Amino acid sequence: MTTTPWTHSCLPELPQPLADLAAGVDLPDPMSAPPLRWGIIGAGGIARTFARDVPLHTRSTIHAVGARDLDRARAFAEEFGVARAHGSYEELVTDPDVDAVYVSTVHPMHARNAMLALEAGKPVLVEKAFTVDAAQAREVVDLAGRSGLFAMEAMWSRQLPHYRVIRQIVRNGTLGRVVSLQADHSQALLHVPRLVEPELGGGALLDLGVYPVSFLHWVLGRPDSVTAVGRLLGSGVDAADAITLVTPGALGVARCNLDGRGATGAEIVFEKGAIELPLQFYRPGVLRLRTFPGDASPDGMVTSWDASLPGGFQYEAAEVARCLEANLTQSPAMTWQDSVEVMEIMDQVRAQVGVIYPWE
Ligand SMILES: NC(=O)c1ccc[n+]([C@@H]2O[C@H](COP(=O)([O-])OP(=O)(O)OC[C@H]3O[C@@H](n4cnc5c(N)ncnc54)[C@H](OP(=O)(O)O)[C@@H]3O)[C@@H](O)[C@H]2O)c1
Repeated sequence: MTTTPWTHSCLPELPQPLADLAAGVDLPDPMSAPPLRWGIIGAGGIARTFARDVPLHTRSTIHAVGARDLDRARAFAEEFGVARAHGSYEELVTDPDVDAVYVSTVHPMHARNAMLALEAGKPVLVEKAFTVDAAQAREVVDLAGRSGLFAMEAMWSRQLPHYRVIRQIVRNGTLGRVVSLQADHSQALLHVPRLVEPELGGGALLDLGVYPVSFLHWVLGRPDSVTAVGRLLGSGVDAADAITLVTPGALGVARCNLDGRGATGAEIVFEKGAIELPLQFYRPGVLRLRTFPGDASPDGMVTSWDASLPGGFQYEAAEVARCLEANLTQSPAMTWQDSVEVMEIMDQVRAQVGVIYPWE
């Protein structure tokens, strides 16, 4: 058997038989990616995580931040040691020292902000959900295509080391084909205004459900059918959704809600075993392989790999830097088609569940 060469400094080695199953997997260290000077659009919650983790775990810096309010941008810049604060997104995207723009605003602003950056000639990393619907997603990637510029959805999970291992196992086919999978994202976030207000693109699906939907799509590709049921809040956005995706050989089940916290696990069932991400499947954590060698071990043989890491956003930031160095306009790990297809699935879910945004 070939053994996977180990190149990553801050993770334990892949144990057997995981190492053999994922033979050939590439796990580049974010510290080895070329440095970029980032500009951030929006000085809110998730921008803080990005501004903390990226300079800590990559060779890149946060060069500038732009907010609708200059004082807010200044306070953010001071807190995170960011060189420049801009009082508008226009100034941020035209800052000549910004190499790439991270869009970290609320969902309805993503498309507009991403296109502002692209129009200024800047590559973009756009927070999830990529946009509010597939039509907007197509607009963004069409503009990136016409401009020959890089764009990627910040679905950070797909860039994490344990996701790369899973991807390799799916590709290698050594556990057989995938027959079913499930993922759940349940959080208690009713107190967050942007999650309950329709004008801000609220609801469980766009914020939380996008993770399990994207996870299912990552493994299955475009499904033949999408079915969904849900329950709504008084504001009209979805509190919870149960979603099934079906392909000719497999069934995927995704679940999300924003009014109670759960384990947020995921499982992929292959013909000859299963892979589990038991807790917080979307972030760095433990990966478990369960194989069923026979009647002697009815619960299966379990191999665990702890891929917990400090931070997490460094992987998506490093991916952008590597793609730019290679003159790519899309990341192979999160293509434009991936983002558009995920939004198409979510459009169908919203239509079936009955969520209609004020601008629709
Ligand atoms: N990857 C992850 O783990 C993760 C985690 C949480 C959130 N997210 C994603 O990150 C994005 C932002 O989430 P967040 O929690 O950071 O949101 P947030 O702090 O509530 O808002 C982010 C920014 O959006 C702008 N904004 C807020 N309200 C607005 C309004 N009414 N009209 C126009 N702009 C408004 C503000 O920009 P200014 O500063 O310019 O005023 C604000 O700083 C979302 O797409 C979310 O899904 C990702």
